[in-house]
Amino acid sequence: MLLEVRDLHVEFRTRDGVAKAVNGVNYSVDAGETLAVLGESGSGKSVTAQTVMGILDMPPGRITAGEILFQGKDLLKLKEEERRKIRGAEMAMIFQDALSSLNPVLSVGDQLGEMFTVHRGMSKKDARAKAVELMDHVRIPAAKERVKQYPHQFSGGMRQRIMIAMALALEPALIIADEPTTALDVTVQAQVMDLLAELQREYNMGLILITHDLGVVADVADRIAVMYAGRIVESAPVHDIYKAPAHPYTRGLLDSIPRLDQKGQELYAIKGLPPSLMHIPKGCAFHPRCPMAQDVCRTDEPPLYEVTPSDGERGSACHFWRECLHG
Ligand SMILES: Nc1ncnc2c1ncn2[C@@H]1O[C@H](COP(=O)(O)OP(=O)(O)OP(=O)(O)O)[C@@H](O)[C@H]1O
Ligand SMILES: [Mg+2]
Repeated sequence: MLLEVRDLHVEFRTRDGVAKAVNGVNYSVDAGETLAVLGESGSGKSVTAQTVMGILDMPPGRITAGEILFQGKDLLKLKEEERRKIRGAEMAMIFQDALSSLNPVLSVGDQLGEMFTVHRGMSKKDARAKAVELMDHVRIPAAKERVKQYPHQFSGGMRQRIMIAMALALEPALIIADEPTTALDVTVQAQVMDLLAELQREYNMGLILITHDLGVVADVADRIAVMYAGRIVESAPVHDIYKAPAHPYTRGLLDSIPRLDQKGQELYAIKGLPPSLMHIPKGCAFHPRCPMAQDVCRTDEPPLYEVTPSDGERGSACHFWRECLHG
C-alpha cells in the first residue's frame, strides 16, 4: 500500500477550547488508485490532508495519535528534514486557489524550472525546457511563449493546470488534490478534472481527491471515504456507494446532488448543521440529524462495521447499515 493513515487524531487548541478536528481517521491509497474524500465543510478533510503532507499549522494544531505510513515508513516519526525531502518529490498537493499558491512575482517558467534546478540540479536552460515540456503536457497552448508570463496573466483554469504541472514535476507517487476545481466555471472544472484523471493514470500515481462534488466522483474515483465530524463514516468502492449507500449521511449527500433528469424538483438537503467540534455529540455524531436514529445511536458510538457484500472492502459507521443499505 502506498499510503495508509491509521487512527489519526488531530485537534486545535484555541482560546475557546479544544476543537477535535480529526477523530480516528483510517484510509489508504494504492499506486494508480484514486480515493475521493467527501463531506461537508468542517468535516476534517483538509486537516487530514495537511497532516499527511506535513503542512499542518502546529500550533494551534496538534497530532494526538495515529500513524501515517507512506511507502512503509511512518511519516510522523521522521525528522522535518526527511519530511521536506518527501514533500514535493514523493508527494505533492494541489490546492483550490492557484493564485495564492503560486508566486506572483516569478514567471511560471521560473517557478516550474525551480523544481528541476533545486531538486534535480539541472541547469537553468534545461530546467526551462522541462518547464515548457510540462506546460505542453498539461495542455497549455503556446507553452513556449507563455512560459515567460506571470501567474496573473493566466485564466483560472490555466493557472490550475500550472499548479498540476508543478505537482507533477518531480513525478511524485502520491498527489493530494484539495478541491482542485472548486473555484472554476463548470465547463472548465470538467476539463481540469479530466486532465488530472488522465495524468494520474499515465503516471500511475495514487490520488486523494477532496471534493464537495459527488457528481465528479463517479467518473474518476475508485474508492470513496465519507467524513463526518472528523471520522470516516463510510468507506467503499465507488460503485457500491452509488448502488446503495450504507450510511444515512452518505444517502443524504447522494440525495442532494442535482440531477438533470429531475429538473424543477426540490433538492433534498440534510437537515440541520454539523456539530461543533468542541462538543461532538455522544454516540453517533450524526444522530441529531439522522432520519434513522434510534436510542442506541444516542449512547453508543458505532464502530466501522464491515459491510457485505461488496466489490472490495467496505465499511460503515452506522448501527443500522443493513437497514440503510436495503431501505
Ligand atoms: N489553523 C486552524 N486553527 C484552528 N482550527 C482549525 C484550523 N484549521 C482547521 N481548523 C478547524 O478544523 C476543522 C476541520 O477543518 P477542515 O479544513 O479540515 O475542514 P474541511 O472538511 O476541509 O472543510 P471544507 O470543505 O470547508 O474545506 C474546522 O472546524 C476548522 O475550523
Ligand atoms: Mg477543506
